[in-house]
Amino acid sequence: MDDLWSIIIVLAVTITTATTIILYRRSIIRSCNRTRSSNKLFTKSSLPLGTLAWPLVGETIDFISCAYSDRPESFMEKRRRLYGKVFKSHLFGSPTIVSTDAEVSRFVLQSDSKVFVPSYPKSLTELMGKSSILLINGSLQRRIHGLIGAFFKSPHLKAQITKDMEKYVQEAMGSWGEDYPIYIQDEAKNIAFQVLVKALISMDPGDDMEFLKKQFQEFIAGLMSLPINLPGSRLHRSLQAKKRMVGLVHRIIQAKRSSGISEIPRDVADVLLNDASELLTDNLISDNMIDLMIPGEDSVPVLMTLAIKYLSDCPTALHQLMEENLKLKRLKDQLGEPLCWSDYLSLPFTQCVITETLRMGNVIVGVMRKAMKDVEIKGYLIPKGWCVLTYFRSVHLDESLYDWPYQFNPWRWQDRDMGSNKSSFTPFGGGQRLCPGLDLARLEVSIFLHHFVTHFRWVAESDSIVNFPTVGMKKRMPVWVKRRRELI
Ligand code: HEM
Repeated sequence: MDDLWSIIIVLAVTITTATTIILYRRSIIRSCNRTRSSNKLFTKSSLPLGTLAWPLVGETIDFISCAYSDRPESFMEKRRRLYGKVFKSHLFGSPTIVSTDAEVSRFVLQSDSKVFVPSYPKSLTELMGKSSILLINGSLQRRIHGLIGAFFKSPHLKAQITKDMEKYVQEAMGSWGEDYPIYIQDEAKNIAFQVLVKALISMDPGDDMEFLKKQFQEFIAGLMSLPINLPGSRLHRSLQAKKRMVGLVHRIIQAKRSSGISEIPRDVADVLLNDASELLTDNLISDNMIDLMIPGEDSVPVLMTLAIKYLSDCPTALHQLMEENLKLKRLKDQLGEPLCWSDYLSLPFTQCVITETLRMGNVIVGVMRKAMKDVEIKGYLIPKGWCVLTYFRSVHLDESLYDWPYQFNPWRWQDRDMGSNKSSFTPFGGGQRLCPGLDLARLEVSIFLHHFVTHFRWVAESDSIVNFPTVGMKKRMPVWVKRRRELI
């Protein structure tokens, strides 16, 4: 079977390469012609400097080889020196304008779907389907985005998430032993998945949750695969896994409908089912419950893991964070009160640690958009049909914006005005597609850190961060823990 696949892939690549070289030449000539005529109209704007390099592959190989290194932004740095903060390139099969300029990226994020639409690899769009929140544009996207965002912000959900999260964290941490390493990344993934599924469809841990977890792993394995949907192919297996998950979610939704949906929504499914819009069909809702797991499943546990990594490497920050959390715990113990969500979010130094982890870790390195028309920004021309990569990582590590940008320094946020940082700090994106899960993410990480530092001391084994295709730890962050007997 594998041999057959190799032959099919080689044939497909050969035919595609030949066709693409011809089409590529034509399209670049057309694009340049249009650009020249655009330049006649807009004399000030011109295509950014840079190179499209090789037909078809462009600069993709160089981009990926840098992405695999511990300095993925070196691809950008080299070109920034040659061409400036905004440059043209050719990545993943598309002529692309790369923006490492905070203002240009902000403009792109703030623009609506008449100007820019999301652009994802073909395998990803096939897996998500046309009605996914991550792909749709216009009023339906705004409506779903608004409903989800408002729900994730509601004090009611935050209270529920806090209770659930505390339960899952205590169950997981209660089972940790002291004579073997604990893999923080795996533990965080397990906890965050349970929280996410509970928030989306009120599912509790059990057989269905295990089934969903297994199918979801099969599903996401195909996100960066070859876009070939034939029996046995990676994409096909992922689509089958999605079908099985959607089947399960559909049954849950039907059960909700027949038992009557509560007016106070318990989960995201309730929120969408309660909405009067005819466009929000049961099929669309079921599909989107799975698609919503894509941005939420990996990012939060990676943020938790990176925070532990940076704290393990910075004892002063760890000490201050521990003191802050222990102080709150002692106070609450004295009062005989449980911690509520606002207690977790009100710990100022803990929030600075999370913010700094977001800046340095760059869980989402940037986002891709496609221009729906010729666009001019700050004297640069982005031709219609070209992609734009707004690369947050370069902005977050720009020394003109952050002193000693490669140093983990949570204190930098203590006197920084977050309001004036809108363009230079965008870990959750911005504009109409600003991450609706951002409050949830911060709350989850705060709860995880609180319980970890108030219950354990630990020694971390050496491990390193990998940045491609997604951010994570090479060895899944093994640590040796010791319970803090004196404070429990
Ligand atoms: C550390 C955690 C997280 C980070 C860094 C993060 C980052 C981002 C970014 C950068 C975007 C913008 C994408 C774009 O502009 O195309 C985004 C969108 C989104 N995020 Fe998150 N995210 C996180 C957690 C979550 C969680 C927990 C959820 C909950 C389900 C979530 C749900 C979404 C959704 C639904 C969108 C798409 C919004 C739309 O296109 O309308 N994210 N996220």
